[in-house]
Amino acid sequence: MSDLGPGEIEPVDEVKRSFLKKTSLFLGAVGAAGVGVPLLGYLSPNKSTKEAGKPVTIDVSSMKMGEQKTVLWRSKPVWVIRRSAEMLASLSLTSAFLKDPDSAVDQQPDYARNAERSVRPDFLVLLGVCTHLGCSPTYRPEPKSVDDSWNGGFYCSCHGSKFDLAGRVYKNMPAPINLEVPPYHFMDDNTLVIGDSGSG
Ligand code: FES
Repeated sequence: MSDLGPGEIEPVDEVKRSFLKKTSLFLGAVGAAGVGVPLLGYLSPNKSTKEAGKPVTIDVSSMKMGEQKTVLWRSKPVWVIRRSAEMLASLSLTSAFLKDPDSAVDQQPDYARNAERSVRPDFLVLLGVCTHLGCSPTYRPEPKSVDDSWNGGFYCSCHGSKFDLAGRVYKNMPAPINLEVPPYHFMDDNTLVIGDSGSG
């Protein structure tokens, strides 16, 4: 209950005003810090994200002809396939049925823009992600295992896209372009490094 008369104004309490000012500045700083920490956390990749982006090294010395290995790189599957002479011969058989047989679309490093889409013909390295909607196709190396004209390759059962044994897409498929070849190099005859083109 105020003792002020009509028209009188309560005198300013300097101590109270100073306290309120300091309190609001403090709360503002706390609020800003609270917003800033999650933002910084969002903008800085965490340890597992950094790890996932690192090159992956694989020993391919024990891989048999036709064998497939799958590794994760940047949280995506990467296939390594050891191709036999018969598998390589199938590439020229399927060329006429492919949408981009010469790899004109930029879906591979320059060193894999060749008939086999690879550094070494006997090893194929592909990102195992369909270029239609991102399913992971299955490896079907056996001739006629998908249809009568099938010479082996990758089949995406999601919507029926077909790729040959170099990851080249057939004509008139839902997938618009060839499977991607990631950067990679051979450190030596038996060691493959995925995610790094190397110096040469
Ligand atoms: S995601 Fe492969 S055909 Fe649709």
